[in-house]
Amino acid sequence: MIRLDLTGTEKYCSLTDEELRAAAAAHRSLLEGTGVESDKTGWLTLADRILTGECRDILAAAEKIKSDSKVLVVLGIGGSYLGARAAIEMLQPEGDVEILFAGNGLSPTYIRNVIRTLGDRDFSVNVISKSGTTMETSLGFRVFKDLLEKKYGEAEAAKRIYATTDAVKGALKGLSDRKGYTTFVVPDDVGGRFSVLSAVGLLPMAVAGIDIVNVLTVAARTMKELNECTEGNPAEIYAAVRQNLYRSGKAIEILACFEPCFRFMGEWWKQLYGESEGKDGKGLFPAYVEYTADLHSMGQMIQDGERNIVETAILFDTDRQQISVPDEASNADGFGGLVGRTFGDVCRVVADAVREAHVDGGVPNVRLNVEACDEAGFAQIVTFFELSCAISGYLEGVNPFNQPGVEVYKANMIRRLGTKK
Ligand code: PA5
Repeated sequence: MIRLDLTGTEKYCSLTDEELRAAAAAHRSLLEGTGVESDKTGWLTLADRILTGECRDILAAAEKIKSDSKVLVVLGIGGSYLGARAAIEMLQPEGDVEILFAGNGLSPTYIRNVIRTLGDRDFSVNVISKSGTTMETSLGFRVFKDLLEKKYGEAEAAKRIYATTDAVKGALKGLSDRKGYTTFVVPDDVGGRFSVLSAVGLLPMAVAGIDIVNVLTVAARTMKELNECTEGNPAEIYAAVRQNLYRSGKAIEILACFEPCFRFMGEWWKQLYGESEGKDGKGLFPAYVEYTADLHSMGQMIQDGERNIVETAILFDTDRQQISVPDEASNADGFGGLVGRTFGDVCRVVADAVREAHVDGGVPNVRLNVEACDEAGFAQIVTFFELSCAISGYLEGVNPFNQPGVEVYKANMIRRLGTKK
């Protein structure tokens, strides 16, 4: 279970009983299905449902891809992409199949680079789109479907295309049925940004070599624990603290981690909170910083700029790799006192120094302690943030499950490009 350390918020926020009761009530309304858009809370039971349902088919497809491909090109954007990439970058599995991501933008340079990296290796494609009509994904799919068909012929290409989309409707579903692609489902009751533990995230993760049964098992257990926790529930408290600090004038929440492999988890988190809470003229702006690198750039702004920032830091108790500070005869840099200490140990001391500086400088710090940067840690983080985000959205008084704002540019785009949809 994630451990919440609020030492760094004490100076700025002390939750009242009423705030704690409100967070518990928001949580209860999620579980009882009495809150706004309660038909989009299927992620609460998603890990359990996949374990007893689609998991077997996902694993079978992953085995087939591993047997006939050296590369899997994953096409998707937003919630149909970030979770898988975040998991693979965080966990760095040592599988034999390289996962390349495309269909998440319109840069011709990026697409050319993916094609160049792919080279002449055997490959398969996983196209992921709940709506089946997202332009970036559709155009990317055209490019890679074309490459597949030129390389293998139409019939064999169809056996190498895996489509993750709505169970019954949408252009991609229709095309998949006509062409005979293997299909996986984005559940109706799960929005894109809450879908990483469905086939959306799990198929690329399994192909990359991640043990998805382990991820799902830990996620299901964590969700149960968080939903049954009545005293000091960390998901409720995190939501309440964020909302308290938001009301007190904080406008930006920075998520910070000392592991560069966490960068895409930061991207996933930004989407989760930004799309869920940023509406009706409200919401903390979510940003991500990578320490210690960003302490040498953004550190100035965090320490000394406008005092409108809340910091949430993710710390791992253990390190996947060990390396110690070596001896150096001249000790020219003056760091000889650290000889023999591990970098991980040094980093944790630095994390305390950073928290002390930022708290003193006017930045409340929430710390989330996670045991390890591994599959279990990934599952715990995803579960914790999804649940706490929904509670926080209910506390803020917005619908955390829609995203009307992202439609505006799409309408303009369609008008200017002259496409129907
Ligand atoms: O969270 C969301 O709903 C969005 O980020 C979508 O996932 C994203 O726009 C992609 O949509 P689709 O899966 O329909 O292609």
